[in-house]
Amino acid sequence: MKTYSNWPENYPDTTWFTNARFGVFIHFGLYTLGARHEWFMTNEQITPENYRKYFEHFDPDLFDAHQWAQEIKATGAEYVVFTTKHHEGFALWDTKLSEYKITNTPFGRDLLAELLPAFRQVGLKIGLYHSLIDWYHPEFPIDGLHPCREDKSYRATNNKRTLKSYQDFLAGQVTELLTEYGKIDYMWFDFSYAHRDWGWSVGKGADDWDALRLETICRNLQPEMLLNDRFALGHGITTPEQYQPDKPLYQDGLPVLWEACQTMNGTWGYDRNNQQWKSAEQILQMLIDTVAKGGNFLLNTGPNGRGLIDKQSKERFKELNEWFYLHNRSIKECGPSEFIAPADCRYTQNGNRLYLHIFAWPYGHIHLKDLAGKIRYAQFLNDGSEVFYRGFDPEEVITTTETIIEPNDIVLQLPTKRPDSLVPVIELFLNN
Ligand code: GLC
Repeated sequence: MKTYSNWPENYPDTTWFTNARFGVFIHFGLYTLGARHEWFMTNEQITPENYRKYFEHFDPDLFDAHQWAQEIKATGAEYVVFTTKHHEGFALWDTKLSEYKITNTPFGRDLLAELLPAFRQVGLKIGLYHSLIDWYHPEFPIDGLHPCREDKSYRATNNKRTLKSYQDFLAGQVTELLTEYGKIDYMWFDFSYAHRDWGWSVGKGADDWDALRLETICRNLQPEMLLNDRFALGHGITTPEQYQPDKPLYQDGLPVLWEACQTMNGTWGYDRNNQQWKSAEQILQMLIDTVAKGGNFLLNTGPNGRGLIDKQSKERFKELNEWFYLHNRSIKECGPSEFIAPADCRYTQNGNRLYLHIFAWPYGHIHLKDLAGKIRYAQFLNDGSEVFYRGFDPEEVITTTETIIEPNDIVLQLPTKRPDSLVPVIELFLNN
């Protein structure tokens, strides 16, 4: 039986993914050195020749796979998605199909070969991001997104570029990734834009990637591996980016399998001058909001050119870590609840445990709809301390100075001062 509207019946089991709920995205590549958005090659219309200086200077000398693995594991994340190749076309592994690869830079090491075992060692599941778009490959037809879109001599090469050769290259690189680096749990392709039309060129989509072939390769080589939906074949994990849906996602009467991907400062690659950092509290609220709506949360970090996760990301990671240490069970293995959460709150639920996440601390009381007679016990998750609650009492004489409780509701009695926790959580034990 189909569980999710966008997940074919013959696709693998998704339990590890929906149980995990939280992953870390890592954007790392030549754009890391430019340090001004991972799209600057095309934003600034830089030709592959002029972009080559980043290739020649790529040397993240302080990179330490075990350090990344520990820092990421410590956030509370259960999986990672790492960029093997972004739109710039640079391969972060020792591909045999191109000279444009990490082992030909001053760094000279196969980063993927170091990273994946380190991630697995700390128990993280492995996701690989792979760009369908390639602004370096000489056979990739130039379109309106390409850095050389306004360069006449470049555009003239389009009649010599054969899409089939690029498709073979893409298929070949994906095959390498799925055969030479052990078990891959999640493949994250990026992205299709067939609806775009610039007059002299159009966007690219499933047919241009020969997505059916890529999908078959994925299914054959890694039968248990999950796939996102950016091939545009109409199925796979949906990945809204830098956007929070306002309700649980449903299609054709079934829930949608989805993952919100979010940045900490608005860009994916390391961006030195961009200081629009979301606070740890804001990030955590987004994460909780996502789980309350039935999605996973993929939080990005863009390590810097020395190979270090920057201070701002680390500070946020640390706060997430402290929160997860105490509140893990309100997220992991949890999903949305049928109950309607009060204002400024989100519910997540796992069986008969209902978790109330309080985003804005109210004074004294909080009213919970439709829970009369359904609760056995309530406690704060941060310290396991009991929370008193009461329901409507028909015997009670209502005066204007007392709490007003609707017959189906209950009222939690809260301390005036909020618990010292980024987002306080009350664990409600429901009657079986
Ligand atoms: C986007 C962007 C990109 C980023 C990604 C993450 O579509 O092209 O730079 O890697 O998706 O969701």
